[in-house]
Amino acid sequence: MEQLTSTKSHRDAIYKALEQCRDRTLELFDNLDFNTFCTQAHPDFSPVGWHLGHIAFTEGMWILEHLKGTPPLYPQYRKLFAADILPKEQRQNLPHIDTILDYLHDIRSSVLAYLETAPVEEQTRLWQWLIQHECQHSETISLILQLQQQSLPLYPATPSTATGEVVSEMVEIPAGEFIMGSDTNPQDNARAAHWVYLDRYWLDRYPVTCGQYREFIEAGGYQTPQWWSQAGWQWLQNNPVAKPLYWSEGKEWDDHPVYGVSWYEAEAYANFVGKRLPTEAEWEKAARWNPFTETSTTYPWGEDPPQSCHGNYDTRIGQTAPVNAYPAGKSHYGCHDLLGNVWEWTASWFSPYPNFEYYPYRGYSQVYFDNQHRVLRGGSWATRPWALESSWRNWYYPHLRQLFAGFRCATS
Ligand code: AVJ
Ligand code: FE
Repeated sequence: MEQLTSTKSHRDAIYKALEQCRDRTLELFDNLDFNTFCTQAHPDFSPVGWHLGHIAFTEGMWILEHLKGTPPLYPQYRKLFAADILPKEQRQNLPHIDTILDYLHDIRSSVLAYLETAPVEEQTRLWQWLIQHECQHSETISLILQLQQQSLPLYPATPSTATGEVVSEMVEIPAGEFIMGSDTNPQDNARAAHWVYLDRYWLDRYPVTCGQYREFIEAGGYQTPQWWSQAGWQWLQNNPVAKPLYWSEGKEWDDHPVYGVSWYEAEAYANFVGKRLPTEAEWEKAARWNPFTETSTTYPWGEDPPQSCHGNYDTRIGQTAPVNAYPAGKSHYGCHDLLGNVWEWTASWFSPYPNFEYYPYRGYSQVYFDNQHRVLRGGSWATRPWALESSWRNWYYPHLRQLFAGFRCATS
């Protein structure tokens, strides 16, 4: 009986997450015109309409074909919506929005019917992975819509006001071992939990703010090769920019995190202030190690699921918030704003943890272990709560500045 009850609550939890996550995805498409739906906003990103179809395709493939064992419902969509067939620029010739919404709906009906009796206890990881997959694509949809200057649906949220002056304070993290990675995160790249030793270091208490970054701009940072690595200066010559992609003038933004910067700009700023970017291990220790209990927690604040007091996520306010607006979200070491608001570039290349095993397919993470992708941590204002965890790793090419990504600095 107990087994039955827990299976039922498990099933209910999956059902709720699938439905809530989907509602948030579909909201992004309310009143969207077809041209915006099927046009590529940037060569590195597919049209938002493609992402929508790909969400349905992935759900059908992993739940209906893989778990349930039935043939594809819409075999004609494989070529268009699989991630590894057409190049991005050939994904603009899309069915009408309503046709793709029907596709999503039909797949979802079959999936929910299957969920009624599915052996969920042994399938937990794939269901969680699938929900996080939709979260990732819905964040990408949000950033493409921002590039296309579409307004995002907003929610009444706790006003995100600054809680005092932001100082460029650093937190000292003593030398020692901590547990990095997780055995419960569904992401293959976040497993397995393993011990890592780090020397003493200091990490910024907050992400770098617009006010701080303005000093770099005004000091001629973009014109001074001294602050840039060779690869960074090369990138800047080929992409002559002089401020972040998402930049608003005005003192009222001073306490907001800077974002819309490439990894190279983050690196240059860190050099300018005599610091460096943290490694992802340094970021993670500050974001989840509890030195008193000697455990790594799921979130900076512990194990309670994310709530609006913990940070700025889930496109609730549709923009950044001041970096010190969520003291309830601070970590055991006292770093703020680690989850949500802006992703944070780290110094690390995306590479496997010891004993890496791919899941659910090789091309998901493994093909990106190529020393060409940098790790980002923490999630942004557009990250859904199901993908917001301190052990979560994101990865992108260092030249990308369209991401909702900023950074914080470290020193040894
Ligand atoms: C990890 C965000 C770079 O969107 O390309 C989605 C995640 N992988 N579907 C991406 C992903 C397969 C990936 N990023
Ligand atoms: Fe995908």
